[in-house]
Amino acid sequence: MTSIKIFCPATIANLSCGFDVLGTCLENVGDEMIIRKSEQKGIRITKIVGANLPLETEKNVAGVAALALLSAIETEFGFEIEIYKNIKAGSGIGSSSASAAGAVFGINELLGKPFSRKELVEFAMQGEILASGSAHADNVAPCLLGGFTLIRNTNPLDIVRIESPSELFATIIHPKIELKTSDMRAVLTPMVSLKSAIIQWGNLGGLISGLHTSDYDLIGRSLQDEIVEPLRGKFIPNFNEIKTIAIENGALGSGISGSGPSIFALCRGIETAEKVGNAMKIVFKKTNIEFDIHVCKINSEGVKTI
Ligand code: HSE
Repeated sequence: MTSIKIFCPATIANLSCGFDVLGTCLENVGDEMIIRKSEQKGIRITKIVGANLPLETEKNVAGVAALALLSAIETEFGFEIEIYKNIKAGSGIGSSSASAAGAVFGINELLGKPFSRKELVEFAMQGEILASGSAHADNVAPCLLGGFTLIRNTNPLDIVRIESPSELFATIIHPKIELKTSDMRAVLTPMVSLKSAIIQWGNLGGLISGLHTSDYDLIGRSLQDEIVEPLRGKFIPNFNEIKTIAIENGALGSGISGSGPSIFALCRGIETAEKVGNAMKIVFKKTNIEFDIHVCKINSEGVKTI
């Protein structure tokens, strides 16, 4: 095999109570990439369609992640990468991680899979460091592994993949404004109160347990964020209204997707997910900001060859 075309899915990080430690992978929203072996060693980004991103390897998240992989293995050849972006940068649904995860997945396939998907997370995280200045894995891990992933630790990396209930759908509204993850991390405070921490880890345990046991009510009760949402919600137009309308229309819970501005709602069944999407649409039309709505099943496979 000398070239590969791949689908790099969008992801929701944090899921309210799991800041930096929990993420999930989405079906039918994502980027595509074509990766080719080349005689010239190293990594070259040869084409980017759909976004104004740097072609220089060291300045591109896919390039940096790919270089990290190449530094861990001897190869006789190099790779050329074409990126077709559908996920907007700064949208909160894992744009940079889709590129980083896609690059390392594709190269690994072309090399005959010397690394497991879990091992690829470490390389992909280098792209996240370039994009946001922080080594979080709650987008790259679900993108590479599919389903829900818990990042128990990043040093050393310890990732737990969590199966999700079959009827779980996500509705996402993406207001077309850009919020940079680095800026949205800068608004956070380094200290949290013990009271907030207790509520947060109770909810995180509840959410993980609810996912394992398909207890939709427990999932809904646990989708609360005591710590991050109060500091970031104000940067998202109509955030509280969207959340309220989602829950009034049957969503299990709703919160900020990653560092925003996208807002997610988890729903039981596609009918409810679509109803929530329609309700979000009506509320958000009151702003003059353009937006997209996505209704997605949870993607249990992750990044894949197409
Ligand atoms: N956990 C990260 C954050 C995800 O919220 O800053 C960024 O996509």
